[in-house]
Amino acid sequence: MLRAEGIGYESNGVVIVASADVTVEAGGSIAVVGPSGSGKTTLLALLSGLYKPTRGNVRFDGVPLVGAAGPPPGMAVVLQNYGLVSLLTAAENVEIALRAAGKPPSVAIPEARAALALVSLDQHADQLIEELSGGQQQRTAVARALSLKPRLLIADEPTAELDAGARANVLARMFAVAHGGGALILATHDPEVAERCDNVLELHRLD
Ligand SMILES: Nc1ncnc2c1ncn2[C@@H]1O[C@H](COP(=O)(O)OP(=O)(O)O)[C@@H](O)[C@H]1O
Ligand SMILES: [Mg+2]
Repeated sequence: MLRAEGIGYESNGVVIVASADVTVEAGGSIAVVGPSGSGKTTLLALLSGLYKPTRGNVRFDGVPLVGAAGPPPGMAVVLQNYGLVSLLTAAENVEIALRAAGKPPSVAIPEARAALALVSLDQHADQLIEELSGGQQQRTAVARALSLKPRLLIADEPTAELDAGARANVLARMFAVAHGGGALILATHDPEVAERCDNVLELHRLD
C-alpha cells in the first residue's frame, strides 16, 4: 500500500532523516520509535505527503506522492500538535475535514458526531477546541482522521496525552483500521504500542 525507498530529508544543510525504507501492506502496522529529536515526526511528514523528501520517493498504491501537497485521498494523519482550528468546535473541526473530502453538510454533520462518539467525545462535540483539555484535543484529532475512513492511518504519538481508558479505546480504534484491511503507521514512545505493531522502525539521533 505504501512504499518508501531511501527517503531522506535535509533542511539548510542539516540532515534530519538520513535514509529510511518503509513498506506497509494492507492489514499491516508499523511503529516508528526512537528518542525525541530522532526524526519520527519528520519521517511521518514525508510518508504522508506533508513534506517533500530531499532524496528518495514515496508511493501510495504505486502512485508517487507529490510531496508537500498533504495526504492523498485514502490516507489520514493525526499530527503531533493535532492541527486543529482552536476557534471552531470539535464537531466543526471534523466536519470541515469531511466537507473537504467532498461530503455534503447533510452527511458531514452526522458523520462528524459519529466519529467523535467513537472516542467518547459526544458530550464535548460543541465545545471550542480551546476549551478542551489536551487529551480531548488529541481525541478530536483522532476522530477527525477516523471520520475519513482512511485505508492508511498515520499517527504521531497519538496516545501521548491520554489516560489509560482513553488510550486503550483510541488504540483499539486505530488498530481496527489495520485489522479491517487498511494499514497503520504510528510514531510512539509507548513500548506496548510498538509491541502490538507487526514491524518496528527504530530511528537514532543524528546529532
Ligand atoms: N523543518 C525543519 N528544519 C530544520 N530542523 C528541523 C525541521 N524539522 C525538525 N527539525 C529538527 O530535526 C530533528 C528531528 O525532529 P522531529 O522529526 O520532530 O523528531 P521527533 O519527532 O523524533 O522528536 C530535531 O532536531 C528538530 O529540531
Ligand atoms: Mg515528534
